[in-house]
Amino acid sequence: MVLHKVQEHFGYIPREAAIKVAELLAVPLAKIYGVITFYHFFKLKEPGLHKIQVCLGTACYLKGSQDIIDEIETLLGIGVNQVTDDRQFSMEAVRCVGCCGLAPVILIDGEVFGKVSTDQMPEIIAKFHR
Ligand code: FES
Repeated sequence: MVLHKVQEHFGYIPREAAIKVAELLAVPLAKIYGVITFYHFFKLKEPGLHKIQVCLGTACYLKGSQDIIDEIETLLGIGVNQVTDDRQFSMEAVRCVGCCGLAPVILIDGEVFGKVSTDQMPEIIAKFHR
């Protein structure tokens, strides 16, 4: 729960915060990192200003979500778990987000985009680009 709070605050788990948590809970730092790296939920890298999540659950995968990932890679030059150089966008792959009827689904900053196609990606991303 402490690590959840840290990630909620920073958007990821900075090393300094992990060290502080280990001190406060009086547990070895290796144990803290064991938890962080075991659960995919926890991030060790600072995400971009806008977080793109592409669903790779079964329904979305079968409807072409890998093509969406490839298109985002082409448009922004980042792969999964990477951040653009200007720190505007980061991309991650997630498992079923609970709206399979809209497959393939992506989320940007929590906003759901369903039945997306590669053709739509430039326009969708432009909505978030400053
Ligand atoms: S598999 Fe993507 S929303 Fe369920």
